[in-house]
Amino acid sequence: MNLQLPYCFCFFLLLQLPFSTNGQAYKNVSLGTSLTAASGDLPWTSPSGEFAFGFQQVSDAGYLLAIWFNKIPERTIVWSANRNNLTQRGSKVQLTSDGQLVLNDQSGTRIWTTPYLGGSRAAYGAMLDTGNFVQAGQAGADLWKSFDQPTDTLLPTQNLNAGGELIAPYLEKNYSDGRFKLILQRDGNLVMYTIANPLTTSNAYWSTQSSNGSGYQLIFNQSGYMYLLASNGTILNPVFSNPVSLQDLYLRATIDYDGVFRQYVYPKTASSGRRWAMAWTTLPKFVPSNICLAISFPSGSGACGFNSYCKIGDDQRPSCRCPPGYTFVDQNDVWKGCIQMFISQDCGHPSQETDSFEIEDMLNTNFPHTDYEIYGSVDEDWCRQSCLSDCYCAVATFMDRTCWKKRGRLSNGVTDPGISDKALMKVRKRNRTEELAQKKCAKKSDRSALIISGSVLLGSSIFLNVLYVFFTNRQKQKVIPQHHVMRDMNLQNFTYNELETATGGFDEELGRGAFGPVYKGVLGDEDQQIIAVKKLEKMAGEGETEFKTEVKVIGRTNHKNLVQLVGFCNEGQHRLLVYEYMSSGSLSNYIFGDSRPNWHRRMQIAFEEKRLRQEELERHAEEARRRKKEREKEKLLKKKQEGKLLR
Ligand SMILES: *[C@@H]1O[C@H](CO)[C@@H](O)[C@H](O)[C@H]1NC(C)=O
Ligand SMILES: *[C@@H]1O[C@H](CO)[C@@H](O)[C@H](O)[C@H]1NC(C)=O
Ligand SMILES: *[C@@H]1O[C@H](CO)[C@@H](O)[C@H](O)[C@H]1NC(C)=O
Ligand SMILES: *[C@@H]1O[C@H](CO)[C@@H](O)[C@H](O)[C@H]1NC(C)=O
Ligand SMILES: *[C@@H]1O[C@H](CO)[C@@H](O)[C@H](O)[C@H]1NC(C)=O
Ligand SMILES: *[C@@H]1O[C@H](CO)[C@@H](O)[C@H](O)[C@H]1NC(C)=O
Ligand SMILES: *[C@@H]1O[C@H](CO)[C@@H](O)[C@H](O)[C@H]1NC(C)=O
Repeated sequence: MNLQLPYCFCFFLLLQLPFSTNGQAYKNVSLGTSLTAASGDLPWTSPSGEFAFGFQQVSDAGYLLAIWFNKIPERTIVWSANRNNLTQRGSKVQLTSDGQLVLNDQSGTRIWTTPYLGGSRAAYGAMLDTGNFVQAGQAGADLWKSFDQPTDTLLPTQNLNAGGELIAPYLEKNYSDGRFKLILQRDGNLVMYTIANPLTTSNAYWSTQSSNGSGYQLIFNQSGYMYLLASNGTILNPVFSNPVSLQDLYLRATIDYDGVFRQYVYPKTASSGRRWAMAWTTLPKFVPSNICLAISFPSGSGACGFNSYCKIGDDQRPSCRCPPGYTFVDQNDVWKGCIQMFISQDCGHPSQETDSFEIEDMLNTNFPHTDYEIYGSVDEDWCRQSCLSDCYCAVATFMDRTCWKKRGRLSNGVTDPGISDKALMKVRKRNRTEELAQKKCAKKSDRSALIISGSVLLGSSIFLNVLYVFFTNRQKQKVIPQHHVMRDMNLQNFTYNELETATGGFDEELGRGAFGPVYKGVLGDEDQQIIAVKKLEKMAGEGETEFKTEVKVIGRTNHKNLVQLVGFCNEGQHRLLVYEYMSSGSLSNYIFGDSRPNWHRRMQIAFEEKRLRQEELERHAEEARRRKKEREKEKLLKKKQEGKLLR
């Protein structure tokens, strides 16, 4: 009798203990349960709370059904169901009464599902502390697990069987299928490939070279070791051998968007500078050891896109860059490669054009597999001249008295200390005048904006801020259509949306004035006028008539040294002023900068010295002409280049 009570008690305890598989605690997700994107539903978490299953928002593009590290601020995603087909608010995932996980989009269309396993067998689902989401059967066996359908990441205890693969994401925050994959082939070889697309072909750039070993498994064990295991139990080809303690660290192995397979650790307990770091102990921390050199094939663009080159940085990560005379096809996706910024040599009149070109040196650089002519026993100068006078030559590389001439659409570009070639890039000479103008602009591009209260000049008008902001490189500002003009004031009345578009979402802040920040933008009119948009944050509560009066006052003012008001926006709580954007540098820089004018000059400015204004106007006009010309040239070049790429 005495024994019965504790026995009973223990029995109940046992019943209450979470069910487990592989020693893992379960928190049941019962059949019929669902989660809706952006509805406030809590994700399904693992018992420890370290992993969660649910919807993650991906920028503005939509929602990803995912599993992530739930206790770190980054919410790093380790698995996802619909990486190529994001859903929107209102989409829903359900563990159906059949025991299937089904993801429907906002309109109820089925996007993704786990296989149908027979309704009677499924019992519940659970997010485990290993990061594995399982659907368990009546007997507790796993019928389906996320570990068997990896995306780009492996977690400790997650193994890869023959045929299993990881596909890199497209970019760091774009989870679509990317450009690289890791696969454990059925022949036992663990291989990394570039993924074929219309411009490139599939090439293997790293492998364990372990074929004829069918039955191999890639093991990722709890102490951070990763290796191939033969069916007879022999350990072969270690990939990672960095002993770590999972008690203190989160651990994952991910094929990143740059094609490198890395092992990362993250301290579990709060300590300064928490972040994902590459596992720090013994080698290797990532493979291949130098991706820039590893991807170099006669077909394909190399580790980076065509016409670009790859360089490993101090952080051991590759970066893609454009050689002199080239620029990125897409600033937001540098892996797409570069395009030539100048007009190619005219093959009809090569000799006439030779003088228009020059060579820019790039040390330790090569563009393998694109040569069409090779010359031995020559010197560097001969190599330069040979490329300059040959209209087909885009770059020559010189090494050890040998000259390789290469044609356009350069591939496999790489700069590395281990390369002894010198690349001689042929570029069109820049027009001296233009160059000077551009240098000037570049100098001023460190976004200077000064807002001097103009109240000194015009009574107590709080709006009158002299805005001398200045010009720089034209960037990604979007363009909005020309708007109607308010006749009596010659001021444009913009909508908030238009200004948002013109400034690319208030992206480039020029400076901050007493009443709020000032942003750069571009109007959609013929001249694509560059503007400075000032948000009047402090004016939100100001009355309607007061605002209008102020705008009128400024609109009529035409002080020579004040920036012209172009228009305004008065919409709900949004109050914005739109000024012309000038290119003569900030007034503060002018007055207080290196070449500070003397007092006489300052007086001249203050007293509207006419000549100064005239010069300024001329400069603006010149600038506008130059910009217009440049835009036209760029358009032409782009058209030309697009034609070329398609060929
Ligand atoms: C989980 O679900 C199964 C099947 O419905 C049930 O037998 C078990 O008691 C549940 N476990 C927990 C911890 O709720
Ligand atoms: C990710 O990149 C792909 C390929 O360029 C593109 O089609 C897709 O729209 C991008 N997704 C997001 C969310 O930006
Ligand atoms: C994405 O889902 C929609 C349904 O919402 C479907 O029509 C479409 O084919 C899917 N696209 C891909 C690439 O799977
Ligand atoms: C692999 O197996 C094939 C045939 O099964 C054989 O011809 C080949 O020599 C083997 N290679 C190695 C490296 O053992
Ligand atoms: C992981 O593998 C390594 C190398 O085989 C071994 O030394 C270690 O004990 C393993 N750890 C666990 C937890 O199995
Ligand atoms: C196990 O298999 C591997 C590769 O298939 C082989 O090299 C090794 O000799 C085998 N070991 C034993 C003990 O059979
Ligand atoms: C350089 O540009 C200026 C102004 O754009 C033009 O007048 C001049 O002819 C150009 N010079 C050459 C050599 O192209």
